Amino acid sequence: MPTSLPTAASLYDRVQRVIPPMEWPTFASDIDAILELKRQRNAVILAHNYQTPEIFHCVADIVGDSLALARKAMSTEADVIVLAGVHFMAETAKLLNPKKTVLVPDLRAGCSLADSIAAEDVRLLRQRYPGVPVVTYVNTSAEVKAESDICCTSGNAKAVVESLGVPRVIMLPDEYLALNIGTQTDVEIIAWKGHCEVHERFTPADIRELRESHPGVTVLVHPECPPEVVAEADFSGSTAAMSDYVGRRKPPRVVLMTECSMSDNVAVEHPEVEFIRPCNLCPHMKRITLANIRIALEQNRHVVTIEPEIAGRARLAVERMLAI
Ligand code: 13P
Ligand code: SF4
Repeated sequence: MPTSLPTAASLYDRVQRVIPPMEWPTFASDIDAILELKRQRNAVILAHNYQTPEIFHCVADIVGDSLALARKAMSTEADVIVLAGVHFMAETAKLLNPKKTVLVPDLRAGCSLADSIAAEDVRLLRQRYPGVPVVTYVNTSAEVKAESDICCTSGNAKAVVESLGVPRVIMLPDEYLALNIGTQTDVEIIAWKGHCEVHERFTPADIRELRESHPGVTVLVHPECPPEVVAEADFSGSTAAMSDYVGRRKPPRVVLMTECSMSDNVAVEHPEVEFIRPCNLCPHMKRITLANIRIALEQNRHVVTIEPEIAGRARLAVERMLAI
């Protein structure tokens, strides 16, 4: 007997604490349409932790940080993958699933880190530091990954750097992630000057003010924040690590200094935790909506393609990371 699909109405209970009843009717018909389209097309939706709750909790099949999305992308049996996230994430899914159709609902969903460096910059760095391996954050284009020895995410950067068994690495393009990892390892790290436009805006003063206005608050930050912000926090980790921290430690009051939707998504699972909400929006993540996910599935757009020669080299760098 075929199993029946959930309906938007049955899903509302899950998100009612973070989506006001007035807003729900604007989402319900797209949710029902997307659930049916996924069935018709044998499609899965992979959603990053920064997607809004109506995407994250109501239509996504696989959710997580960049590392989890990359890993889980490999094990899907679906014919079509819709990446509810930014373009580099869709490219990573395509690298790992060359035969599947990978769709990104809005081609403008970019990333300030990915935009901060081009393949030619990596070639020049290699000339300047001959023999020094290049560790590349997944927040980059396939062309940049293709020039790299190995990729990393915020969840495994230290392990990747140390896996190489060398005294010095080039780590690009996020200067702050590189500096933050540099405080945890003896490996010397040569950094690039890229920054995340969302996380670079948090300051140590923000944290001090929060601690004054919300006594006892536990402060979690993403390692794309400047090192002086990380130094003031109680914990720093990838989006998945922040979410796990809340689940394991259940702090009575917490602030996630990262993209705004993270708190909403984690709050759905933890009604007992008070979430304080200073956060910054990622304009790129916010380009993905239920409406354009529906159109992506209806019209098969935008299909992610990567030039085969680039894809071959970029895939190696991603696969080396996943083998760790
Ligand atoms: P995570 O890998 O921690 O999910 O981070 C991705 C990202 O883009 C953070 O800004
Ligand atoms: Fe890029 Fe920052 Fe947005 Fe993440 S939050 S996608 S690093 S701009």
